[in-house]
Amino acid sequence: MFYPQEIIDQVIEANNIVDVIGSYVPLTKKGSTYFGLCPFHSEKTPSFSVTDNGSKQMFYCFGCHTGGSALTFIMKYENYSYSEALKVLADRAGITLPKPDYSQAVSERYKKKQRILDAYKDAAIYYVHLLRSERGANAYKYIKDRDLDDKTIRDFGLGYSDKYRDDLYQYLKKKGYTDEELKDTGLVSIRETDTHDYFWNRLMFPIMDTSNRVIAFGGRVLGQGEPKYLNSPETICFEKSRNLYGLNIAKRHKGKDLILVEGYMDVISLHQAGFTNAVASLGTALTDNHASVLKRYTDNVLISYDSDGAGQDAALRALPKLKSAGINAKVVDLNPYKDPDELIRALGADEYRKRLKEAVNGFIFEVGVLKRSYDLEDPGEKTRFGNEICNRLSYINDELEVENYLQVFCARYKLDYEIMSSKVKKLALGHEGVEYAPKTSGNNINKDNRQKDGLEQNQKMLLAHLANDPSLYEKLSKIIDESDFGLTPYDIIAKLMFNQFRQGKFNPAGIISSFEDCNDQEQAAQILYNDFADMDDETRKKALTDCVKKLKTNHISRMIEEEKDIVKILELKKEQEYLKKLVIFKE
Ligand code: UTP
Ligand code: MN
Repeated sequence: MFYPQEIIDQVIEANNIVDVIGSYVPLTKKGSTYFGLCPFHSEKTPSFSVTDNGSKQMFYCFGCHTGGSALTFIMKYENYSYSEALKVLADRAGITLPKPDYSQAVSERYKKKQRILDAYKDAAIYYVHLLRSERGANAYKYIKDRDLDDKTIRDFGLGYSDKYRDDLYQYLKKKGYTDEELKDTGLVSIRETDTHDYFWNRLMFPIMDTSNRVIAFGGRVLGQGEPKYLNSPETICFEKSRNLYGLNIAKRHKGKDLILVEGYMDVISLHQAGFTNAVASLGTALTDNHASVLKRYTDNVLISYDSDGAGQDAALRALPKLKSAGINAKVVDLNPYKDPDELIRALGADEYRKRLKEAVNGFIFEVGVLKRSYDLEDPGEKTRFGNEICNRLSYINDELEVENYLQVFCARYKLDYEIMSSKVKKLALGHEGVEYAPKTSGNNINKDNRQKDGLEQNQKMLLAHLANDPSLYEKLSKIIDESDFGLTPYDIIAKLMFNQFRQGKFNPAGIISSFEDCNDQEQAAQILYNDFADMDDETRKKALTDCVKKLKTNHISRMIEEEKDIVKILELKKEQEYLKKLVIFKE
């Protein structure tokens, strides 16, 4: 942080967000909220909302999920850095900012990050320029042969890296970057005897984050060659395990689903065909981080991975990750085509739309893959296959769901319904409340992650409820506070929030504005903006009670693990027992 939190709070408080945003976007009041057309995506009916209601000084777009404080708005709208935006707001309110405190490591890191982002932006511009020049003629022809039109090429910022050894290096040096800075980007390799660019004679795909900043590149050989795709290395701005290619565009999609594909060309081809909700995990297996990023934007994912063995395997591995993030996933069948790009080019968008409609539920897909390793003509193998289906079904808690699956499988694989049904029931008695984890996917790690994800969901929920109704603080603070959060992505928000409550002045815009990065601001806004309008009072109280108990129990469990003194352990265990019976909201 360059500025003390009090100054940031002061600046945020001195600017009414409706006035600030109203000077850029015409706003109309509806009830206690203002609405306008979102400046961050194109739309015809307003889904961009601004509220200065109570202490909430925030904006949020229900269309593209961009949100934040007045500071976030200025950063995004004007494409300003944190300090530039803060200065705009300070000037507006006649506040003089103190000299920024650059002494801390945090701000060093921030400056470094900014420098890398600048270099990537410049590199992207350079590659685009090359593609349009004489030198990029071959590459341009290659994309044209792959049926991409000029609008698509522009929308995705495609470019070309030249055959010369170090021309990007020379270009960026002229722009004023030092060798040290360029090393941090990973775009060049600098040695005394041999300095060269990382990408050489490739079609360049800039990879952007959800704020449309270039944070990495993928480069494809023109035609045949190894490796087919080369990706720029991870930097402090680019974490492979979190980034999804195309999400910067797909996040603005109005529909309820996102399509998950494997490659760059799949995303681009789908977008060109009108499926602007496609994103890719780019060759790497989908991670839990990817899944929780997806969950920020949708509850439904259509997996449209390659139809070959590797693709189907990747789909199998993605399913439990999506499920534990709370996403419903279905799997799209592309046969006999290899990937979405090939299917669309061969059969067109309507056929792909049909395939999306026919996508099968994840569980049915898993059983379909399982079937391939049994010969159903052989009675013994058919029995074993039937038993495995029963085994998996017996872990599903919802009776109706089990029933529906049984009907599908028994009809499809000619299995006896009565026998299957009674087997499932018997097995289920043996492991009530236990969740099924497929043997293939490294059980322990998965389970740990699942617990961690569940915990983070609960933390997010608790913070959202508190922000929505600060009067809860008095009741809840007797049971829970920021120390119950441990080290998670939400611990900072929790700390800031509980601090504000203790001082008796809750200021969500201040919390948002204390994050320097736009993406972090947006994530904070998503938590702090929730109004739970679709939840009735009773459900809300129940959810909240559940949440508080889980967080507290989990924290005590962590304390028990670290505690050596047996008396203290027993005390902690007693506290956990007491928690079980605790009633937070009396009738
Ligand atoms: P594919 O080999 O399926 O390529 O790899 P593709 O997407 O169909 O590419 P085109 O259509 O031949 O151009 C899928 C994804 O895996 C990653 C890339 O992200 C690619 O888009 N990959 C693949 C690599 O990172 N390196 C490679 O060498 C190959
Ligand atoms: Mn392909």
